[in-house]
Amino acid sequence: MSTSTPTKGGKLARLTIDGHDQVIELPILGGSEGPQVIDIGKLTAQGYFTYDPGFVSTASCESEITYIDGDKGILLHRGYPIEQLAEQSSYLELCYLLLNGELPNAVQKSNFEDTIKHHTMVHEQLRNFYSGFRRDAHPMAIMCGVTGALSAFYHDSMDIDNPDHRRITAHRLIAKIPTLATMSYKYSMGQPFIFPRNDLSYAENFLHMMFATPCADYEVNPIIARAMDRIFLLHADHEQNASTSTVRLAGSTGANPFACIAAGIAALWGPSHGGANEAVLDMLDEIGDEKNIDKFVARAKDKDDPFRLMGFGHRVYKNFDPRATIMQQTCKEVLDELGVEDNPLLRMAQRLEKIALEDEYFVEKRLYPNVDFYSGIILKAIGIPVEMFTVIFATGRTPGWIAQWNEMISHPYKIGRPRQLYKGPTRRDYVPLGSR
Ligand code: CMC
Repeated sequence: MSTSTPTKGGKLARLTIDGHDQVIELPILGGSEGPQVIDIGKLTAQGYFTYDPGFVSTASCESEITYIDGDKGILLHRGYPIEQLAEQSSYLELCYLLLNGELPNAVQKSNFEDTIKHHTMVHEQLRNFYSGFRRDAHPMAIMCGVTGALSAFYHDSMDIDNPDHRRITAHRLIAKIPTLATMSYKYSMGQPFIFPRNDLSYAENFLHMMFATPCADYEVNPIIARAMDRIFLLHADHEQNASTSTVRLAGSTGANPFACIAAGIAALWGPSHGGANEAVLDMLDEIGDEKNIDKFVARAKDKDDPFRLMGFGHRVYKNFDPRATIMQQTCKEVLDELGVEDNPLLRMAQRLEKIALEDEYFVEKRLYPNVDFYSGIILKAIGIPVEMFTVIFATGRTPGWIAQWNEMISHPYKIGRPRQLYKGPTRRDYVPLGSR
């Protein structure tokens, strides 16, 4: 990776500190796309920190993996537009691209798919972890635990400074996460775990492990398998979002990759992030009936009510979410195939989408349906239980997390250590218990 270079002519930002007669010069760095970046790394030596809660204006790293232009609704992986990848590529090919930087040729593609297939089984001892959970445990809770537990199984390949170890770990994670994910579902149902099948594609295998039983095969519908592949593909990476930043931050301490991905899964769980697809369905349940939609839209607009329309809005996309556009089309294909247009829940979702797209509040604040609005509807239509939605997001996001972690570890990096604007008490003396 090239190191950041100041923009042509060595452009500088000059920061004048009011009342101190002090001017601090800060280099301006240029990337290959996107806004220029003011390098504030040396500011602390001048006695200042910057303040940016939520990292709204802060680039935390250099990266060559994914680029987003939120105003234009552009998402590129290694330069390739998401629309082209969704139309012409496949999830596993995208995994290869994210990990290696280039699209594979035919031999590389087939070898990669073969490698992933041959890592899908998990160690038999891992099954024992599941029985430690209550049957009603949330599958994301199980995923945090069992993904971190993988650290205890692969001592042979945990030298993070060894590129071969990093490669095999990436393959293991991409291959095993769907197996662990579907095991968490089977466990909640009280059904036996279903082994992966090497004759199936990644998405087919996922559906097979979810829905087959030892007594009955699950015949995979190609339209549903294609939709599943798209759901994984559209979630594969999204530059420095909360969970990816968590993976990088955990990784910056030198923690092992399984632990870092477990941290990413935990961060993804929240309803403002990956938990939104589950929250969309919970919200539709809460709305209950089409006649209540207006009341809930009014609540979403009320400043004094914490209720938000789940599946609407995005930190970066302020025009439209290009993933949502593709997902909307896939949603239509799946609903047509399954003939569930008359499902009241789905009808309610479509009505809500229409109202929000036309409502002045949502238009003005540029709150569009995001990827999770449609993925939740598709997954519901396929028959996947709501608790599994975020697990599916985590499965899809695994290559992004591991590619970002690998990118960081492959180059010189520092431990992540943000500072703060301290507003607590100033120094004071301890008061003995008897005097309080
Ligand atoms: N419903 C109603 N009002 C909203 C919503 C919403 N879904 N989202 C944002 N707003 C309002 C918010 O109240 C604020 O209003 P004001 O300016 O009057 O204070 C304004 O829009 C800006 O919101 P914000 O919270 O400052 O924006 P943000 O960029 O920090 O948050 C978000 C982005 C995604 C967390 C937020 O839009 C949200 O909570 N959406 C619902 C949850 C959701 O669908 N999350 C999935 C994101 S896509 C998957 C992923 O990449 O993780």
